[in-house]
Amino acid sequence: MRQAGRYLPEFRELRSQHDFFTICQTPALACEITLQPIRRFPDLDASIIFSDILVIPQALGMVVEMRPTVGPVLPDPLVTPEDIGKLSYPVSIREKLGYVMEAVTLTRHKLEGSVPLIGFSGAPWTLMGYMIEGGGSKTMSKAKSWLYKYPKESERLLSILTETVVDYLVEQVVAGAQLLQVFESNAEYLGPDLFKKFALPCIQNISLGVKEKVKARNLNDIPMTIFAKGAHYALSELANSGYEVIGLDWTIDPEEARRCVGPNVTLQGNFDPCGLYAGVDDIEVNVKNMVNKFGKQRYIANLGHGIYPDIDPDHAKVFMETVHLF
Ligand code: CP3
Repeated sequence: MRQAGRYLPEFRELRSQHDFFTICQTPALACEITLQPIRRFPDLDASIIFSDILVIPQALGMVVEMRPTVGPVLPDPLVTPEDIGKLSYPVSIREKLGYVMEAVTLTRHKLEGSVPLIGFSGAPWTLMGYMIEGGGSKTMSKAKSWLYKYPKESERLLSILTETVVDYLVEQVVAGAQLLQVFESNAEYLGPDLFKKFALPCIQNISLGVKEKVKARNLNDIPMTIFAKGAHYALSELANSGYEVIGLDWTIDPEEARRCVGPNVTLQGNFDPCGLYAGVDDIEVNVKNMVNKFGKQRYIANLGHGIYPDIDPDHAKVFMETVHLF
């Protein structure tokens, strides 16, 4: 949830000297930024490798830029299904994204066992959204138009992405990642029907594929988290999709979420990132309230989505301290 990022002055300082994706591609810099919040906040229980979900479209040959004040831009998006042919697929993950694996290994060493390291990827529908919209979107109407107009071709694109994501996540495990998180941040634009038809099968195939391949390579089984933002309607399906942890955004009540998923998965979340704008006394009250509702078993305290750049790092600290004290 942007554990490292623009809310930290030490990140802004380093970022002012380098382009965003240059940082992602330079293992020493990606490692340094991953460690920044770990140094600053002794209460953090885990670290997440500094990178971005959009390195996958880059690996498939698309140009992705991170523009100040705009966010990610793909200047040459997929327009019609024929454009799928332009993607450089299959991808050699080691060749194209070897820099991520180097950053993971370097960071594992530098952490010296202090906290575990999380690897991650975007989920196929979310990546497809960026690849067709050419960046963020308020409606995802272009990407959704593919699902209605070109369902077979959409499935083809989603399966290309699924296979690429599986290989990418397995390589992160080989490199040293100890938990994997899959971000389906654009789930909120799909209703139950489209989600179950297009997004969910990919999410299931990713956990299945990763766990099979990890086993085949004689590595330890790897816990996995699925964060499908806004997909309340699919929580019970997500609970049976092969992930140990389900990440929640702040728009669902923890007790209701637990009722939907049953007792066998861990829940993660779901503090409103804007809740960190509150005064510290209110943050404490609200964090305690959240933890009470989730209970202290099978629960990972976290924000419900990415932290905003203008959040006071001391307020983030109060969040973490309250979780631990309570
Ligand atoms: O959490 C971490 O510290 C790990 C690093 C991380 C980043 N992006 C760094 C980042 C992770 C896990 C991501 C995932 C990511 N990237 C997602 C999924 C999670 C989510 O937020 O839903 C998505 C959708 C992206 C794509 C992306 N990258 C967007 C939409 C933006 C712009 C955000 C904004 O606030 O304008 C980014 C940029 C980005 N990714 C930043 C960071 C630290 C800020 C970039 C900058 O310095 O300019």
